[in-house]
Amino acid sequence: MKITTELFLGDCKNELKNIPDNSVDLIVTSPPYADQRKSTYGGVHPDKYVEWFLPISGELFRVLKPTGTFVLNIKEKSC
Ligand SMILES: C[S@@+](CC[C@H](N)C(=O)[O-])C[C@H]1O[C@@H](n2cnc3c(N)ncnc32)[C@H](O)[C@@H]1O
Repeated sequence: MKITTELFLGDCKNELKNIPDNSVDLIVTSPPYADQRKSTYGGVHPDKYVEWFLPISGELFRVLKPTGTFVLNIKEKSC
């Protein structure tokens, strides 16, 4: 199996579009923790989070091989 490494720097919503269907074996992602890191990288209000992540997850599903693995690291909002 030939392993290739390509780095895409940018908004994942746009960059994922450059990756063909069913071409990725492993996805490991740690998306923004809603708005908990506003001062670091901005963030997404918890009420808008699903609306923000759904199109991204649709693209992740499209590029992942049927035999692929998806690892999601996410932290719920601590009160
Ligand atoms: C929870 S942090 C994960 C950081 C990384 N795993 C680490 O350990 O340093 C979320 C990261 O997502 C990046 N991010 C936020 N919105 C993004 C987007 N639309 N596309 C790509 N990365 C994004 C942020 O800049 C931040 O670095």
